[in-house]
Amino acid sequence: PAGTQRTPEGALRIAGHDLRDVAAQYGTPAYLMDEADIRARARAFKQAFSEAFGAIGTQADVFYAGKAFLCTPMARLLLEEGLSLDVCTGGELAVARKAGFPGAKIGLHGNNKSVPEIEDAITYGVGRLIVDSFEEIERVASIASAHGVVQGVMLRVKTGVEAHTHEFIATAHEDQKFGFSLADGQLMDAVGRVLKHPEALRLLGFHSHIGSQIFDSEGFAVAAERLIHVQLQVAQEHGIVLPELDLGGGFGIAYTDDDTPLTPQQLAEQLAGIVQRACDAVGHPVPHISIEPGRAIVGPAGVTLYEVGTVKPVHATDELTRYYVSVDGGMSDNPRPALYQADYTAQLADRTSDAAPVTARVVGKHCESGDIVVRDVQLPGDIQAGDLLAVPATGAYCRSLSSQYNHVPRPPVIALRDGGSRVWIRRETIDDLLALEVEEAEGEE
Ligand code: LLP
Repeated sequence: PAGTQRTPEGALRIAGHDLRDVAAQYGTPAYLMDEADIRARARAFKQAFSEAFGAIGTQADVFYAGKAFLCTPMARLLLEEGLSLDVCTGGELAVARKAGFPGAKIGLHGNNKSVPEIEDAITYGVGRLIVDSFEEIERVASIASAHGVVQGVMLRVKTGVEAHTHEFIATAHEDQKFGFSLADGQLMDAVGRVLKHPEALRLLGFHSHIGSQIFDSEGFAVAAERLIHVQLQVAQEHGIVLPELDLGGGFGIAYTDDDTPLTPQQLAEQLAGIVQRACDAVGHPVPHISIEPGRAIVGPAGVTLYEVGTVKPVHATDELTRYYVSVDGGMSDNPRPALYQADYTAQLADRTSDAAPVTARVVGKHCESGDIVVRDVQLPGDIQAGDLLAVPATGAYCRSLSSQYNHVPRPPVIALRDGGSRVWIRRETIDDLLALEVEEAEGEE
């Protein structure tokens, strides 16, 4: 993971770059991406899944979930690495398009896609639309038939799995917005309705995403078994063998030392075993599998680099002095601690120190007390204004969830590789923000 190596003088180093130099060149705060690390993770997923599923006589495709982090150079990198792409809005699709990502390798998600989004996807030749509601079945059918296209669709299924993760990122239990319920016959009803439009829709199979930041394959096993069971039901009732099964993403990463993620290889082998057993049990052919990792590909490859502005010792309790270390960003570049109580770590990036560690809380510059970047971390007691602080594992859902709260322009995304660095997304300026405002014309009320 990015942020694990140091120069002989003690500065943090990524892809051969001393982060003091990176800060001097690009400023702080900045999102730094270790390009080789992203490539290695993309490759590891692709290879592990093709091997494990190849061994059970089928194929597996890796659709990178663009919501984790997307920009044109990132889409190009994925294409070079042979991945497919999951997008969930017209905006993400526009990025894919700008990168020249072939429609056939794109899947479009979303529980409330607009008509223009569906039209864009269909005219661009998006290979699969993941349909999430009865209204959408009819909407997609009518747009596809107007364009003379037979659109590949998958049905998003609520498998009823309780993923052990934060409530806001669990997505397969009954009482949430995504998917057709397995429990009350909704899904089979949806299948019937899709099959009524053979001139416009081709049902590829089912899709399930059980949640995010998941560390074992139990939930996937339950979801896969249930889905293969309905595939069998479709075969019996309609005489069609659905060729595809998408198990979604959600594979966890290590934000702190407490997290113990599976490797892509372990995951691939476990999932292949699960799918094979589930198919064998009911005598259904093993479908073509796809997965949608986002976080596991980019999360560990990103580090946010901040500069410390103030250090304030606070007598939190009689026993505890907590050092509030304020950095030049905060909840606008990483809202995850505020949204999900997400844990991160931080480390001094410009030097090492022998000073005794103190209990610190890394906070941002925004006007609220919940503006916390790292809730609890031990930092050297001599940490001071001007030090650089690195927060690792911020490659996923930081830039993509960022805001300009308090009119703080968003940091740039810098890709670092051996022998070079490149701006993927430039730093926003106050002028960028002001440019959105419409001045009142002369003489107007
Ligand atoms: N596929 C579907 C249909 C999804 O909804 C998601 C994530 C993924 C794949 C990718 O999941 P991943 O492998 O990245 O966990 N903002 C939250 C995460 C929300 C994820 C939403 N869907 C966070 O920062 O933790």
